Amino acid sequence: MMDHNKISLFLEIHIACFLLCSSYQHTSGLTETAALLRWKQSLPYQPILDSWVSPPQANSSVAQTPCSWRGIRCDSQGSVVELNLNNTGLKGTLKNLNFSAFPNLVLLNLKFNQLTAPIPESIGFLSKLQYLDLNRNYLNGTIPLSLSNLTQLYELDLSQNYITGILDPRLFPDGSDEPKTGLIGIKNLVLQGLLLGGKIPNEIGNSKQLTILALYQNSFYGPIPFSLGNCTHLNILSLAANSFSGTIPPILGRLPNLTDVRVFFNNFCGPLPQWFQNRSFTMLNLSNNNFTGHLPPQVCKDGSLLEFTAAYNSFTGPIPMSLRNCTSLVRLRLEHNQLTGDVDKDFGVYPNLTYIDLSYNRLQGMLSTNWGSCKSLQNLNLAGNSIVGILPGEISQLKHLQKLDLSSNLIYGEIPRQIGITSSLYYLHLGGNNLSGLIPKDIGKLSSLQSLDLSMNSLRGSIPYQIGDCYELLNLNLSNNYFTGKVPYQIGNLVALQDFLDLSYNSLSGEIPVDFSKLNKLISLNMSRNNLSGPIPNFLATMLSLSSINLSHNNLKGPVPDGGIFNSTNPVDLSNNKNLCGRIQGLKPCNISTTKSHGGTNRKKMVIAITSSLAVALFLLGVIGNFIVLYKRNLRAVEHNTGHNEENLFFICHSDGSIMYEDIIEATGNFAEKYCIGEGAFGKVYKLILPGDKKFAVKKLICEADDLDMESIKAFKSEIKALTETRHRNIVKLYGFCKRRSHTFLIYEYMERGSLADILRNDKEASELDWSKRFNTILGVAQALSYMHHDCEPPIVHRDISSKNILLSSNLEAHVSDFGTARFLKVDSSIWTTFAGTYGYAAPELAYTMAVTEKVDVYSFGVLAIEVLMGEHPGDLMSRNLNDGINQINFKEILDSRLSSTNQQNLKKFALIWDLALSCLQANPQSRPTMRGVAQLMEKESSHKT
Ligand SMILES: *[C@@H]1O[C@H](CO)[C@@H](O)[C@H](O)[C@H]1NC(C)=O
Ligand SMILES: *[C@@H]1O[C@H](CO)[C@@H](O)[C@H](O)[C@H]1NC(C)=O
Ligand SMILES: *[C@@H]1O[C@H](CO)[C@@H](O)[C@H](O)[C@H]1NC(C)=O
Ligand SMILES: *[C@@H]1O[C@H](CO)[C@@H](O)[C@H](O)[C@H]1NC(C)=O
Ligand SMILES: *[C@@H]1O[C@H](CO)[C@@H](O)[C@H](O)[C@H]1NC(C)=O
Repeated sequence: MMDHNKISLFLEIHIACFLLCSSYQHTSGLTETAALLRWKQSLPYQPILDSWVSPPQANSSVAQTPCSWRGIRCDSQGSVVELNLNNTGLKGTLKNLNFSAFPNLVLLNLKFNQLTAPIPESIGFLSKLQYLDLNRNYLNGTIPLSLSNLTQLYELDLSQNYITGILDPRLFPDGSDEPKTGLIGIKNLVLQGLLLGGKIPNEIGNSKQLTILALYQNSFYGPIPFSLGNCTHLNILSLAANSFSGTIPPILGRLPNLTDVRVFFNNFCGPLPQWFQNRSFTMLNLSNNNFTGHLPPQVCKDGSLLEFTAAYNSFTGPIPMSLRNCTSLVRLRLEHNQLTGDVDKDFGVYPNLTYIDLSYNRLQGMLSTNWGSCKSLQNLNLAGNSIVGILPGEISQLKHLQKLDLSSNLIYGEIPRQIGITSSLYYLHLGGNNLSGLIPKDIGKLSSLQSLDLSMNSLRGSIPYQIGDCYELLNLNLSNNYFTGKVPYQIGNLVALQDFLDLSYNSLSGEIPVDFSKLNKLISLNMSRNNLSGPIPNFLATMLSLSSINLSHNNLKGPVPDGGIFNSTNPVDLSNNKNLCGRIQGLKPCNISTTKSHGGTNRKKMVIAITSSLAVALFLLGVIGNFIVLYKRNLRAVEHNTGHNEENLFFICHSDGSIMYEDIIEATGNFAEKYCIGEGAFGKVYKLILPGDKKFAVKKLICEADDLDMESIKAFKSEIKALTETRHRNIVKLYGFCKRRSHTFLIYEYMERGSLADILRNDKEASELDWSKRFNTILGVAQALSYMHHDCEPPIVHRDISSKNILLSSNLEAHVSDFGTARFLKVDSSIWTTFAGTYGYAAPELAYTMAVTEKVDVYSFGVLAIEVLMGEHPGDLMSRNLNDGINQINFKEILDSRLSSTNQQNLKKFALIWDLALSCLQANPQSRPTMRGVAQLMEKESSHKT
């Protein structure tokens, strides 16, 4: 029996040894199986690797290979040649993947995943690797120098990662931009630990088989290494959206098949090297660099050019001659250079062309009917040149045309009558030409139109009422023409109007139409320089979105309405009218007894009531609150416009489509640290400057909206849509939302002066925010909160009011930011359940309930109001005086000592704020006033000017 046992033991050991030895045969270290399992173990658990398990030992006849595992392919000897887990949601790092165990690996494809940390140096062991694709992960650090070992590589794609380009500051003596010479050798730097990221290693030239090199959207800097001139097979070179500099190396002219070059959004400069003279391309993208000199004349010699962009450089000279017969062309962007040429003679007919932008160059010639034969055209932009001729009807009939911009040229004649045929047109700008005649009635058929600019022409007649059928319009500019007659009341049907309505510099007569009261998203209204008569209608004072109004140089008369924009610090120009009166500077005061006697006495009573007793004030709050609700009931129109733009909302971040996902990624350097301007509970905020110096703030959300189910995504979308439609002059505008690839972000209006918290912390800036500005700051916040609580359906609770969330514009006007962020992020519960407002501002009930009401904001507002008076957070004050003690304080003692003492008038205002703030801080949410009431009392107080 014993013997038998011994034999079987011997056999077992022998078999085990055989198995081990056979799988060890092609490596010196770990087996491939063991290496993969070890890597799997180091990763967070993920179902996609469930097939990666070691076969049961008992089943000993089966060789122990990983060849049937997901993503693995082996050669006939059972050795791994491919590891392909593209787009599987893979998480973790490559740190514990022992590359030395895979001597035969040919393909490593892990693109579109969530891998983090640097690429390990040990990748150099994969000496047979031909295909390496790590596109779109979260990899950081530098390119490992060991890549020089990968001499068989033919495709290398590390695009869309965070491979950074930061050199150790010690390399830059005296803060200069140039690193110290002598230290530049990349190996040197690595050995000395000075290279924290950056350049493409010169060793790249060892990969002589390379045909595709894609490094776009990382943070590389420095020149293109000359060694690339040794990669003779190179076909595609994509370096876009990094910080590369210098010129394009002449040595790349040695690469005969290099016909796809994408270097846009870098800092390249100088003229293109000589080899561009004769080179033909399939794809050439040079936009947004500092290139000078001429464009390559033979760019389409082979007739295979699909895309050519060179926009936003300083190119001079002619349009490349090979472009004329380039029928393959799909996309051409040469805007914002100093190119000369003739838009008629230098261009032909392009059946596949969808997008052409030649704006802001020095082009001349006639506007040709050829453009009307480019049947695929979606975007035609020739603005800012010296193009003459009439606007051919053929262009305005292009079926797919979405955007037509011919502004600032010398185009004359009439607007084609058949303009209404291009029903997909959403952007039509013909301003700054010599167009004459009438606006065709068919304009009303442009049902997708969002932006219409016909300003600065010689158009005449009356404005056709059909324009009121362009329901999607966000802005309308008809200024500087010869329009006569009444303003069509149908313009009031354009309820989507947001950005502006400009009818100035015409000869329009009659009254301001009552229907304009429906424009409850409008931000800027300009009707100056006309012959308008009658009174300024009262509804203008209740249009909460309005941030600037110009009615100057008309024949308006009567009292200027009270409140709203007319009581604000926003630009209001009512000068040069016939007979206006009111409290606006430059106007004579109205005769109170005939106009406002009732309101006047009421107000006096109220002030007395407040200063004498808080209880009476609270009672009044209720009364006035009710009154206001009735008064503004018709303002409560918040539409639920579930419409065709819903898809666009996800991908196009601005209503006119001009801010695209790529632009944002590129303009923020893929969210580079240097563009970061702040960090909040839900993510970092980046400054975004787009061409034309348009500034925005982009908040990149921490949450992984990827994990949301369809229901949540629908909820998320409609929340955002409601918020983008919310317009109030004291709320930071949310322009849109992008969710694409791994990024989710929100695009906001940019606020020059930063947060109230920062301003109060800085002595100089705090003094700039003088007493009257402080009152207006608190008033603005109160009005914003009142709007969101009472004019939005359903009401929106902020949940996180604090001085960090109050931003100030260049004229120091307060804007509440992050409105609603809290609410729509609720769908992503992981962030939300742990979040209960900012410490020091959060209402006490947040500690024990998640059922949040508006009263949470009311509490935080109370803290904020006191903070603005004191110049610092009242933290100590509040904890010291927990038991109503704070009520005993004389507020005059806590006023910010950095400001000079203030007059009696202001003291009265602050007494009101103090009383209101204390009532907001009551522990019982039900006892706190509504924001409507608070705002209303403050508005009344602010209208007491002397
Ligand atoms: C990505 O993976 C899928 C399988 O998930 C495969 O069908 C596809 O060919 C892969 N793509 C590449 C480029 O390897
Ligand atoms: C490069 O490959 C050789 C063998 O092919 C190996 O010895 C060496 O360690 C590798 N270098 C790196 C940095 O991986
Ligand atoms: C890479 O990213 C991780 C996580 O974000 C960070 O901890 C690490 O410091 C980064 N490494 C480098 C080299 O940038
Ligand atoms: C290109 O390769 C040759 C020979 O392999 C080498 O001598 C030369 O230094 C390389 N050139 C560059 C710029 O790396
Ligand atoms: C260039 O491309 C052609 C066609 O694909 C190929 O035959 C030729 O070998 C390539 N030349 C080089 C140097 O790679």
